Amino acid sequence: MLVLGLETSCDETGASVVKDGKTILSNVLASSADIHEKYGGIVPEIASRRQIAVIVPVLNEALSGAGVSLDDIDGIAVTQGPGLIGSLLVGLNMAKAISLSRNIPFVGVSHLEAHLWAVFLDHKKVSFPFLGLLVSGGHTSLYRVSGVGRYSSIGDTRDDAAGEAFDKVAMAMELGYPGGPVIDAMAARGDPETVKFPRSRIRGHPLDFSFSGIKTAVVQYVMERKKEGAGKFSQEEICDICASFQEAVVDMLLEKTFLAAEHIKAQEIVMGGGVTANSRVRSKFMERAAETGQRVIFPSPHLCTDNGAMVAGLGYHYLTAGRSDSLDLDAYAS
Ligand code: KG4
Ligand code: ZN
Repeated sequence: MLVLGLETSCDETGASVVKDGKTILSNVLASSADIHEKYGGIVPEIASRRQIAVIVPVLNEALSGAGVSLDDIDGIAVTQGPGLIGSLLVGLNMAKAISLSRNIPFVGVSHLEAHLWAVFLDHKKVSFPFLGLLVSGGHTSLYRVSGVGRYSSIGDTRDDAAGEAFDKVAMAMELGYPGGPVIDAMAARGDPETVKFPRSRIRGHPLDFSFSGIKTAVVQYVMERKKEGAGKFSQEEICDICASFQEAVVDMLLEKTFLAAEHIKAQEIVMGGGVTANSRVRSKFMERAAETGQRVIFPSPHLCTDNGAMVAGLGYHYLTAGRSDSLDLDAYAS
C-alpha cells in the first residue's frame, strides 16, 4: 500500500511516499528557516505563504522521486495539528483536493504522534507498551504508548519546550535559527563543566519539565559576560557556554525520562522530535540505557525533525484500520 504523507505544521514543507508503513520511497523537504533566521524565530504569516509557494513542487518531487504518479497512491496522510494554523491549512487543503479529485481516502494525523512513529520507518522492532519522549520546538512530553492512537500523558513541560530553549539561547548568542543544530555542533568543541547552569525540578511533579529557568539563566549569563568583555566572545567561550547549557538540558531530559520509565515499568523508550537529533542526547541516553538494561530507540537523525515520511508511516496504520476523514476535517493549532 502506497501512502502519500504531507507535513506542513510549521516552517517546513514535507511530502513523502511510504510503502506499507515502513519503506520510504521518497522524502522531500523544503524549509523557510533561512527567511525566519533574520527575525530570530518563525514568523507565522511568512511560514504559511512559503507553504503555499512550495507545496506543489515538493509534492511533485516526492511523486517523481518515488517513481509513481497520483494514480498509484492508495491513501493520503496529512498533519492535522498541532502547529501554525495557516501552515497546517495548506497541507490539509492539498490533501483534501487530491482526495476529492482522485477519489483517494485521506486521514488527518497528530504531528506529535507522527514524531513517535518515526522509529518504525527505520524498520526497528518496538513492542507495546513503551515510554515515548517527544522533544521538539513546541513540546517536551512523556507518554505511555500502548498502540496506534492509544496514549496517556504522564509528563509535560510547564513552560518552554526544550527545543525552544535551544532556539532562544542561540538567539541570545547570535548563532542563528534554528538553534539546536548549531549549539550541538559548538558544544562538541566545548567543556560542559565550565558553567554549572541550574537543573529545574518541580516540587510534587517529578515527571514534569521546566526549561524557562535554564533559558533565562543562560541569557542572563551571556548578557553579563558581554558587558564584562565589551561585547565580544571568543569561539572557545561560545563553545563552553553551549556545552554547559546543552549538558543541563540533557540531564533534565535524562532524569525525568528514566524516572518515568521506572514509574510505568517500561523496558523500551522511544524518542521523537527535533531535539532527539542532538548528539549529546543520543549518547547520554544510550549510556544510561546500557547501565539500566533498558532499550532506547532513536529515529535516524534526519527523521527526528519534521518530515512527511513520519506522517505517511503513521497514516498507514489508520488507513489500514479503515479510518478516513471527510472533507469537513479542520486543522487544530494546539
Ligand atoms: O520536531 P521539530 O523539527 O519541529 C517541531 O515540531 O517543533 O523540532 C525543531 C526543534 C527546534 O527547536 C530545533 O532547534 C531543535 O528541534 N533541534 C535540535 C537539533 N536539531 C533540531 N536541538 C538540539 N540539537 C539538535 N541537533
Ligand atoms: Zn515536529
